[in-house]
Amino acid sequence: MEKSIRLNNGLEMPTLGLGVFRIGDGSPVKNAVRMALTNGYRKIDTAAVYGNEVGVGEAIEESSLKREEIFLTTKVWNDDQGYDSTLRAFQKSLKRLKTDYVDLYLVHWPVKGHFLETWRALNELYREGQVRAIGVSNFQIHHLEQLSEVSDVVPAVNQIERHPLLTQEELRGYCQEKGIVVEAWSPLMKGNLDLPLLKTIGERHHKTPAQVVLRWHLQDGVVVIPKSVHPHRIKENSEIYDFSLSSEEMKAISGLNQNHRFGPDPDSFNF
Ligand SMILES: NC(=O)c1ccc[n+]([C@@H]2O[C@H](COP(=O)([O-])OP(=O)(O)OC[C@H]3O[C@@H](n4cnc5c(N)ncnc54)[C@H](OP(=O)(O)O)[C@@H]3O)[C@@H](O)[C@H]2O)c1
Repeated sequence: MEKSIRLNNGLEMPTLGLGVFRIGDGSPVKNAVRMALTNGYRKIDTAAVYGNEVGVGEAIEESSLKREEIFLTTKVWNDDQGYDSTLRAFQKSLKRLKTDYVDLYLVHWPVKGHFLETWRALNELYREGQVRAIGVSNFQIHHLEQLSEVSDVVPAVNQIERHPLLTQEELRGYCQEKGIVVEAWSPLMKGNLDLPLLKTIGERHHKTPAQVVLRWHLQDGVVVIPKSVHPHRIKENSEIYDFSLSSEEMKAISGLNQNHRFGPDPDSFNF
């Protein structure tokens, strides 16, 4: 299993990253990012709306790694969507992150009436070299189809809610066919890991339910951004490259699907 995946524009992206949603700015997020970088993570997933880009930027700046060794993702929030407002929002994110480029910039949600213009702005930022790749988040097939009607640029990534209770097979298949890497948010079901099957499979491999689930994503070609503020879990979530699940185990985990969302539905969100 590779630790990185090639995006459709040739850029290499780590298959594991730290998600920082709901981690406070300042020392909480700085500690989490520092811990992740120490444990070999090379990708951090933040967003303007998380309110912690400043802490993420400081942690990266204070680390012993060079900026180019870290893959940094952020996202344009819904209120800022549209062409000019996205360009302005991006400059504010750059300033908060204390960097002069972002590795991956995402349209956070497909805001009706605005996301096509937002996409046009992302294309401009890409052309100017201010972002190394552009993508989307929470896009269903019909949103991706709308995008393809007005733009030749295929998103490099679609970051979607995905885990054993919401396997998203149709959307995953569509994205993989179009060369869009699927990145799972809430890959650990927000910590709801107490399922007997995951425990049984974990015991077989001397792994925890969290490690089993993360490995299941990777073997399905899906990249992951688990969130934790606890050093031992940040480390645990990175130890997923030294075992493999059998095809029966993969099938059994996929069989847990109930189309259950912990987060909002992209077809009915109202924020
Ligand atoms: N694009 C979007 O719209 C969107 C939406 C939601 C999230 N995201 C991104 O996806 C990232 C991950 O999603 P998420 O934060 O919603 O959920 P998640 O990563 O599935 O789960 C995080 C929860 O699981 C716990 N946890 C972490 N590792 C664990 C382990 N090894 N064993 C047991 N529990 C564990 C964490 O607790 P502790 O912190 O206490 O360890 C936390 O409560 C976010 O941080 C964010 O970057 C994107």
